[in-house]
Amino acid sequence: MTKVVLISGSLRAASVNSAALRAVRRIIAQTRPSASAVSLPIGRLPFYNGDVDSAGTTPAVAVARALVADADALVISTPCYNGAVPGVLKNALDWLSRPDGASPLAGRVTAVLSASPGGRGGIEAQPALLDLLDSCEAITVEHPPVAIRRAHQRLDGSGEMTDPEALAALRELVDATFEAVAIMAEQRRSGLRTPEPPRTSGTPRTHQAVPSVPSPVAGPLSRDRVTLSRS
Ligand SMILES: Cc1cc2nc3c(=O)[nH]c(=O)nc-3n(C[C@H](O)[C@H](O)[C@H](O)COP(=O)(O)O)c2cc1C
Repeated sequence: MTKVVLISGSLRAASVNSAALRAVRRIIAQTRPSASAVSLPIGRLPFYNGDVDSAGTTPAVAVARALVADADALVISTPCYNGAVPGVLKNALDWLSRPDGASPLAGRVTAVLSASPGGRGGIEAQPALLDLLDSCEAITVEHPPVAIRRAHQRLDGSGEMTDPEALAALRELVDATFEAVAIMAEQRRSGLRTPEPPRTSGTPRTHQAVPSVPSPVAGPLSRDRVTLSRS
């Protein structure tokens, strides 16, 4: 069974990013009934503190690391705060980037999207998030960038993302993510890819990305491209 962990970079109850991920979860349930998708609530994590990490006594951290370590893929939806990812998401990824040499992010297939009420869908946050994931040795899914513009207008009366254009982009993202998981599994089976060796501090990083299957709107990852165009 393919296990997907969903991470929203927003703590707001009415978050458009969390709404986008709930739509991702529904799409997975409809199209891959044997897969599971669960949310990782990052608001329960304390601020990263090396002393607290060394003590190893924070249940929320242990749960988060175990959930990610057990996942076949992550899908992260981020707001853009002043051109970057919100601190709460950076904090969560910092926790997940440790223990050094045994990070649950290393070798993890990870897809990224953003959503914002603004006209650019928060896409300015995506390059920094992709760099951050690269730094953590995650394997990012290549797909046309999904940045959901005017996201608040794409919610129904219950706060769910039901807009057809947004759902179509999210379906493609889900397809690309599962295809990346399948490519990784095939590479492991055929011996082309061995489990990622843990990276220790100072090891030069190499960019790892799994290309998605060609799709009518696919192209090379262009970080300034916005998939959704409604203004
Ligand atoms: C501190 C802060 C900075 C923000 N900076 C940006 C920005 O640079 N670009 C943008 O599109 N929206 C920006 N916004 C607006 C967010 O996109 C908006 O609050 C959005 O709804 C947050 O996502 P959420 O609905 O998932 O919580 C900012 C909001 C805050 C609180």
